[in-house]
Amino acid sequence: MNPIQSIVEARKDVFLDELFQLLRIPSVSANPAHKEDVAKTAEMVRDRLSALNMARVEIYPTAGHPIVYAETEQLPGRPTILVYGHYDVQPPDPLDLWHSPAFEPVIKDGKIYARGACDDKGQFYMHVKAHEVLNALGSLPCNIKYLIEGEEEVGSAHLEDFIRPHADMLKCDVILVSDTSMIANDTPSITTGLRGLAYMEVEVTGPNRDLHSGTYGGAVDNPINVLCEMIASLKDADRRITIPGFYDDVIELGAAERSAMAQRPFDYQEYCKHLDVATTRGENGYSVTEQTSIRPTLDVNGIWGGYTGEGAKTVLPSKAFAKISMRLVPGQDHEKISELFAAHFRRIAPPSVKVEVRALHGGRPALTPVDSIGFRAASAAMRDTFDGKTPIPTREGGSIPIVAMFKEVLGSDTVLMGFGLDSDAIHSPNEHFGIFNYLKGIETIPLFHRYFAEFSGKQ
Ligand code: BES
Ligand code: MN
Ligand code: MN
Repeated sequence: MNPIQSIVEARKDVFLDELFQLLRIPSVSANPAHKEDVAKTAEMVRDRLSALNMARVEIYPTAGHPIVYAETEQLPGRPTILVYGHYDVQPPDPLDLWHSPAFEPVIKDGKIYARGACDDKGQFYMHVKAHEVLNALGSLPCNIKYLIEGEEEVGSAHLEDFIRPHADMLKCDVILVSDTSMIANDTPSITTGLRGLAYMEVEVTGPNRDLHSGTYGGAVDNPINVLCEMIASLKDADRRITIPGFYDDVIELGAAERSAMAQRPFDYQEYCKHLDVATTRGENGYSVTEQTSIRPTLDVNGIWGGYTGEGAKTVLPSKAFAKISMRLVPGQDHEKISELFAAHFRRIAPPSVKVEVRALHGGRPALTPVDSIGFRAASAAMRDTFDGKTPIPTREGGSIPIVAMFKEVLGSDTVLMGFGLDSDAIHSPNEHFGIFNYLKGIETIPLFHRYFAEFSGKQ
């Protein structure tokens, strides 16, 4: 065992216990009822960072949930790493599908089960504990800054307004984020691209009130039926999105890039079995790996209207609603796509209904460089801790809109060194994070700092 491994091994019970305390606070950013819990979590994060010999630790209130910021003494001649993460979590619903309560973390089969275990409390906390390991070993190879926010899961609405005036404070050589997944515990990977997002809500109104479906049904148009027809028409037989202009700006991958992607280990049977589906049904002409990373999508996230209570009620509803999101790929602009969607959706509505379309939030896709010092440092660090296996660059389907914003506002590139797995059930019931993954992250991050300093040649 090397000195890093010895420290991790000696302290692992404490590392787990501290994470459990964090996981016990329901920091659900989407739910105003949890505002106090979110604030309490920010305080706990601040206190944990304060224990690390920081020059400065602060909570910045925003119009939404607070931002936690900390920095070590910024010594000249050392590179600076900005660690970004989020302490807020997704709502735990549906509650009855959890095998144990979402905010009462338990360990089962070597995994920590709780909302936020992987996304992102477990992953950002690895950095805090890795910092503790570096402190125990003596000096830090790099200056470190932390930006841990509480609104990632609701679109980071107030982060841009914080970053712009604080660009000097946040100045860094690289941004390091653990909020993505790797291929498998024996197949390390580093994420090099994320999709963007355009999130819409639509409202279809038919008659001015709910009607008796016998008296009026057959003549008066039903907004739920109409909404379903409209949604169904958004994709063609090849499952391509029919909104005019939707694909115009998509940057297609070349044959070489696509064949490199196809090298990524992927077991289709396992994939379907894990999800209990007989088959997948994505866009024709693309592999599952491509469909979930380099191709844009359109999905209904929720749909409601009419009567949904117990038993039957014969009603022709006045209104129908849906939340529809589109994952975007490099080249696509979420504002333009939102406008294309809105114009198209209004255009295809039959004259029997009124349609309202609202854009809820959006974010830009991101690509990170693979020839940077940061990527090379992450690659070297993971190779050391994953039995000499060089991590595979992968593009992922999720979104972290702040990555593109960091590049635009701070001019800095991000390294997406995540330790989760796609099967960790983030945003789902029974979210979990392997103890192996948690400790592996804590073991790997100090090496990232060392290699980053070494490769920067500033030390
Ligand atoms: N950590 C995820 C993003 C992610 C998930 C990246 C899986 C790669 C693989 C993040 O917390 C998240 O859920 N982001 C939202 C963004 C949205 C709220 C703007 C997403 O992807 O839906
Ligand atoms: Mn996340
Ligand atoms: Mn998330």
